[in-house]
Amino acid sequence: MNKKALIDGLNEDLANELGASILYMYQTSTATGWAGEELRELLTPEITDEMGHAIFLADKIAALGGKPTTVPRQHASPKDVKAMLKFDLKLEREAVEGYRQRSIQAEEAGELGLKIKLEEIIMDETGHAEKLERILRGM
Ligand SMILES: [Fe+2]
Ligand SMILES: [Fe+2]
Repeated sequence: MNKKALIDGLNEDLANELGASILYMYQTSTATGWAGEELRELLTPEITDEMGHAIFLADKIAALGGKPTTVPRQHASPKDVKAMLKFDLKLEREAVEGYRQRSIQAEEAGELGLKIKLEEIIMDETGHAEKLERILRGM
């Protein structure tokens, strides 16, 4: 595993985190009705969770000698609250899978501190996904 492939992967994760943060901000501002109020309560703290992940990744990319991206992944959010939640659940699952691969790359590159931090982020994203699943099961 070369360092460039790891940096490229981390930059992909960074674009995803920036995109998720913006998406959740958009959804908390535009969701309507009682379900929308609940979505707002659920997603507001996740805006800063995802931005925190983005800050970690940007610092790490720079520390590895790379250039952190400033371009977020673009999402077109569904309008309906239930569809928003399903969309977000898909993204959270993708994030878990992406970080699982990245932690393997980090280990192969001898970056054990990074691997451990990526596993902590996996815990956060798993928590996000489980919350969304629980809500969707009751809708
Ligand atoms: Fe995240
Ligand atoms: Fe998340």
